[in-house]
Amino acid sequence: MTVTLAIHGGSPVRTEPFPSWPIFGEQEERRLIGALRSGAWGKLDGEEVKQFERRFAEYHQAKHAIAVVNGTAALRLALVAAGIRAGDEVIVPPYTFVATASAVIEANATPVFADIELETFNLDPRAVEAAITPRTRAIIPVHLAGLPCDMETISKIAQRHDLAVIEDACHAHGAEYKGRRVGAIGHMGVFSFQSSKNLTSGEGGIVLTNDDHLAARLWSIHNCGRMPGRAWYEHFMIGGNYRLGEFQGAVLNSQWDRFEQQAETRERNGKYLAEHLARIPGIFPQSRNADCTRHGYHLFALRLDPNTIEVSREVLLDALQAEGIPCVAGYVVPLYRQPMFENQAFGPYTGCRDTGPELDYRNTSCPNCETISSVQGVWLEQRLLLGPKHDMEDIVVAFEKVYENRNRLAEQAADDTGNVF
Ligand SMILES: Cc1ncc(COP(=O)(O)O)c(C=O)c1O
Repeated sequence: MTVTLAIHGGSPVRTEPFPSWPIFGEQEERRLIGALRSGAWGKLDGEEVKQFERRFAEYHQAKHAIAVVNGTAALRLALVAAGIRAGDEVIVPPYTFVATASAVIEANATPVFADIELETFNLDPRAVEAAITPRTRAIIPVHLAGLPCDMETISKIAQRHDLAVIEDACHAHGAEYKGRRVGAIGHMGVFSFQSSKNLTSGEGGIVLTNDDHLAARLWSIHNCGRMPGRAWYEHFMIGGNYRLGEFQGAVLNSQWDRFEQQAETRERNGKYLAEHLARIPGIFPQSRNADCTRHGYHLFALRLDPNTIEVSREVLLDALQAEGIPCVAGYVVPLYRQPMFENQAFGPYTGCRDTGPELDYRNTSCPNCETISSVQGVWLEQRLLLGPKHDMEDIVVAFEKVYENRNRLAEQAADDTGNVF
């Protein structure tokens, strides 16, 4: 006999809250007050951001780290440092936060969308290859949800076509590809420390690179075009003030001390969820192969096949939420379906016009992205993975309960809409 769903009046699987985010305590307070009392509040005056840059670079085996105000600016600075300019094309996935593509527009270049793989939610290297034109200059692989992209194949394509690789690792703190931490595999790697991220200071970002020339350009661009050792009012190239402040540096250093243990917990819980949810027909957690030696689990992403479960994603989400499991649909349209791209509402950034009159995002079609965003994608936030194993068991029980009651849910949905799904 099946147990009645909470949405149909039964008891929810879970009434306790999941861990909240961010997690902080006395250490953050102490360091923040220390930064305040030091009177050295700017990155160039104090030690907090410098220390964090050193720690973050070392952890990633990167030679250089340049901390900036946020991940969006970090992406744009990386593009400018790579020499991207008007008329250049940059290949990006359409299933990502808007900044991956809007940063390309803000660098005065043209984002070209290549489809993702249904199984991994990550850029499909074959689609990347097919999107290359004589104008292509760079690729931005996004390690979606924290799952590393196929960096070996993408790097080989980039080498063959002389393209820059800028990793968007904003979801992927602590993720490993073949034992190497992501973010320092491509020419540059970008992270965000915005509120939701696995390592956060409310706002913040960083660019990693092993290339001395790129590092010098990044440093200058993020610091008003200055050069180390030269006068404060000497400016050598176009740049701006993108420096991260010391208060954020203080928070990041404290959060960093908690990070590794949190990353281990997410990895352990994420693996458990992936293994157990995959046993339910029609549920396909983002698939990881042996190349992923650690998932970042900024999100636990999965696909729901409505042909097997026979209810729509929206019905499933409502039922899971009623069971006490917070879950969301995530990105519900591919980026090229956002009004910004359909209408080319790019303000003063006219560089993409140099790509030619054929540029019309209304003609873009990435079927896997459309399937995931419009129909199948489901996300659980990273904070849900920070509790004990028992929390994961509750999530699995809730999914199983919804699956067992799928017929009742489908009937209800048909009654509500007058349609059979
Ligand atoms: C994949 C991805 N790239 C870039 C960004 C931009 O980072 P920020 O919000 O720090 O500007 C985000 C943040 O949400 C992101 O998720």
